[in-house]
Amino acid sequence: MEQIHHITKKHHPMKKITIAIDGFSSSGKSTMAKDLAKEIGYIYIDSGAMYRAVTLYSMENGLFDENNRIKAEELEKQINNIHISFQLNPNTLRPDTYLNGVNVENKIRSMAVSEKVSPVSALGFVREALVAQQQKMGKAKGIVMDGRDIGTVVFPDAELKIFVTASPETRAQRRYEELKAKGQEVSFDEILENVKQRDYIDQNREIAPLRQAADALLLDNGELSIAQQKEWLMNQYQKAVCTDSNERN
Ligand code: DC
Repeated sequence: MEQIHHITKKHHPMKKITIAIDGFSSSGKSTMAKDLAKEIGYIYIDSGAMYRAVTLYSMENGLFDENNRIKAEELEKQINNIHISFQLNPNTLRPDTYLNGVNVENKIRSMAVSEKVSPVSALGFVREALVAQQQKMGKAKGIVMDGRDIGTVVFPDAELKIFVTASPETRAQRRYEELKAKGQEVSFDEILENVKQRDYIDQNREIAPLRQAADALLLDNGELSIAQQKEWLMNQYQKAVCTDSNERN
């Protein structure tokens, strides 16, 4: 007679972790982060969208001078009037960014905002305000957040940290195609210049410069398809969850 062995496995409820994805602009990190969040049922937050929303607010409220410099003192006085939130778009199934109750998802992706966002995101009081909001959003874990300082400043204890990179040309090409698909008139050279300029400012600013956290995994995705990136990230997530459960037992 066949013997049936009942193996009683110790059951580990899937514990939610925090996933920090940092990297250069247009490195494809947002696409990766969004897809992963959807697949594993986590909240997704695009922290860059928050810096873009503050920039848009500044543009719409006369907070840039005639030389296109940000009026930092004025912005600091108004920082508490800026309310940023995210709401799931039922058509795209992705979160749209809202600024003071208005959907600004398209506006914040324009070149006009891209050109002004780096100096705004270099301001200490802006970072302080947004980092506090981001930490609040991640309090219960089960979150994927992408940006520049998520693994270093916002969630230094994240169980999984990824640092994404690709050449400036590859990234400019991606942004070019993205904007063209949206019907925006843009030149490739202008975008490449903007990408390089933002890399420089992001890496060299005094507060929370873009850098890879010591415990972040590096992914150069220049040669990888979206499907390959997705698979790589899923593997890393599974490893991180297992390690986390083992460490707790
Ligand atoms: O990822 P993105 O291109 O949408 O980001 C827009 C700008 O915001 C980028 O120039 C750098 C800044 N940023 C930041 O300083 N810190 C973050 N966590 C996210 C974005």
